[in-house]
Amino acid sequence: MRCYRSFLVVELIIIICFSAISLNINGQSKPWLVPDEYKTLKNPVAKDKTSIKTGMALYIKYCASCHGKTGLGNGVKARGLKDFPGDFSGAEYQNQTDGEHFYKTKFGRNEMPKYEGKLSDEDIWNMVNYMRTFKK
Ligand code: HEC
Repeated sequence: MRCYRSFLVVELIIIICFSAISLNINGQSKPWLVPDEYKTLKNPVAKDKTSIKTGMALYIKYCASCHGKTGLGNGVKARGLKDFPGDFSGAEYQNQTDGEHFYKTKFGRNEMPKYEGKLSDEDIWNMVNYMRTFKK
């Protein structure tokens, strides 16, 4: 009897683990972990007019199709995506560091393309600066 009960407990644990994993696969909760060295990376490009203007032109060319012109995640291509690209005007995005935005843009994941090798680091920082202007 005792043995049977502990078998039930083990089974329950297995079920809980599997449902946690499948939740992750379905994209319900999947934190995007950024390595500390990027999180604390200092933005080397000043947030001045020139940088924001350059960032805007690049953003419209490369990013707006998914992320939307005003960063709400409602670009024309967004409908065909499995994952929501995020709302750049909200706190969840704006509370991240510049380094986190830089890392995610440079390396991407899943449907978020990586721009490493396509855009220079300086241009990625220009876009990071521009995307700050979406703040509500
Ligand atoms: C093909 C569609 C697509 C394009 C083009 C695209 N993205 Fe994304 N982006 C996504 C998706 C989808 C996610 C969410 C990915 C995830 O959470 O796994 C995302 C996530 C992000 C994030 C993280 C958002 C957050 O809340 O943490 C940043 C930053 C980002 N994109 C920047 C950019 C920039 C800058 C460009 C243009 C250079 C760009 N993206 C182009 C689809 C796209």
